[in-house]
Amino acid sequence: MHQRSISTPVPPTNDEALSRHHRDPEPWVWWKHGVVYQIYPRSFLDTDGDGIGDLAGITEKLPYLANLGVDAIWLSPFYPSPMVDFGYDVADYCDVDPLFGTLEDFDRLVAAAHEVGLKVIVDFVPNHTSDQHPWFAEARTSRNNPKRDWYVWRDAKPDGGLPNNWQAYFGGPMWSWDETTRQYYLHSFLPQQPDLNWHNSEVRAAMFDALRFWMARGVDGFRVDVINQVMKARSLADNPPNPVRNPRIKDMGDYAAQLHVNDQGHADLKYLIQEFRSVVDDYPGGERVVVGEIHEDDLGVWASYYGENGGGLHLPFNFGLLESSRAHWQPDELRAHVAGIESASVGKGWPNYVLGNHDEHRVSTRVGEAQARVAMMMLLTLRGTPTLYYGDEIGMVNVPISPELARDPWGLRVPGMELGRDPERTPMQWTPGRNAGFTYGPEPWLPLATDCATVNVEKESSDPRSMLSLTRALLRMRRREPALHRGSYDPIEVDKDGCFAFVRAYGQRRFLVALNMRSSTVVLRLPGRGSGAVALSTVASESVGRLVDCSAINLQPDEGLVISLAEITSSR
Ligand code: NOJ
Ligand code: MG
Repeated sequence: MHQRSISTPVPPTNDEALSRHHRDPEPWVWWKHGVVYQIYPRSFLDTDGDGIGDLAGITEKLPYLANLGVDAIWLSPFYPSPMVDFGYDVADYCDVDPLFGTLEDFDRLVAAAHEVGLKVIVDFVPNHTSDQHPWFAEARTSRNNPKRDWYVWRDAKPDGGLPNNWQAYFGGPMWSWDETTRQYYLHSFLPQQPDLNWHNSEVRAAMFDALRFWMARGVDGFRVDVINQVMKARSLADNPPNPVRNPRIKDMGDYAAQLHVNDQGHADLKYLIQEFRSVVDDYPGGERVVVGEIHEDDLGVWASYYGENGGGLHLPFNFGLLESSRAHWQPDELRAHVAGIESASVGKGWPNYVLGNHDEHRVSTRVGEAQARVAMMMLLTLRGTPTLYYGDEIGMVNVPISPELARDPWGLRVPGMELGRDPERTPMQWTPGRNAGFTYGPEPWLPLATDCATVNVEKESSDPRSMLSLTRALLRMRRREPALHRGSYDPIEVDKDGCFAFVRAYGQRRFLVALNMRSSTVVLRLPGRGSGAVALSTVASESVGRLVDCSAINLQPDEGLVISLAEITSSR
């Protein structure tokens, strides 16, 4: 018989507890223990009335973000660009597009972010430039231009055909014809985004200088766009056909029909990433992070990109949760996903999770608004760095965009497949007022959600039941409790359908996270787990502090609970 003595844990309430070093015996590593918040600059806050968000707008909202309780911001590209792919087509790696402001605005942003304790991660787009970049303009002037080899050029086949069978991610072949020099050039995405040739050492040197340029301006890290695509097989051999169509890739036609063995995942990437890491590590001042965008289903391959000490990425993004649609939002699938990430990353690096980004439908739309709260609880209680997409903290949903207002080139190029990413890029909803407080100008660049009178920061700030209040409470609790930001992760295998449950523990502190993924009540029976007190509920803020006996935990429909478990002193 176990004798239990129960000490009732006090649920988090006060701000003093926000101190991240509170009861934290080991050093805080910001990119492991903190939370990253992604900002899509076009859509955050517009301060000059042109309907497009800008750097000054981000600076203005830094106190909001600090108060929300995130630790770092990642800014999608704000560099000079013709904006064909909304900034992922860079025309100058070392400046700010006038739409977003100036370098001085950027310096002000970094200084103000650091002032309120936020790190700044910038996007770095190495795979391709804009076709308007001066490097490409030069390269295409003649076949023997010194910059020619900075890009990838090939003759047509003798029969006039394309150099190989590679397909661009955004549809169509990966080759476009240059009439002046009568050769094809390579582009993994749009024809306006020619791929750089990373086998060329001058390219590497120039791009690494760009990293130094931003480090000199105080940035704390880089999110590296499609890093596993930057090197291609020198042979440019055809890709073989894909025998099993990848269910993760949206129906992208010919792209999904190939195995991308020759245009991605080159064996030399590891040396390139090592070089990249040493450029970052060798730059004086501060601890910086390198996060890589990698779409890779094989978790063994995914984990091989890690290399905290050995020159790999600190964090290769884990996009597994982005696949979650209502159909996949199942406890067994999530438990299996987390188990996969936990085991693949053992001895390699620190796990990480992403719930939304500028390329994927909003989580509220994928799993439903009630489950989006459960998803937020899960994201912020799992072991690993969470990345949170702007607007998800208030429960923004995909905004349907009528065809005449559609802007995303992917959607426009591949019509009828609903590949457009505009719905998840709509303006942040700040107030119930005009244009949701996003712009004082006549019109935002994309339409606002119809729910913006109720779903906005101002309204939700004063509502303890709002998504914003829940997110804020979760962020504070995660920061305050070492068990949640660095503790162990132990999944609970439950027979009951409908729940995903796990324990996070550090020292004497233990938290049980119980997530009901169904819209019906459930009793979760975990005898032998002791008892505790509700620290947070996704549906009932009044239940905080309620004592819970784990032998029968009542969960309301769509309820997630964080239960602070009592310390168990057992004697036989
Ligand atoms: C990945 C980015 O996340 C996406 O938005 C962009 O379109 C492509 N890379 C091309 O840069
Ligand atoms: Mg503006």
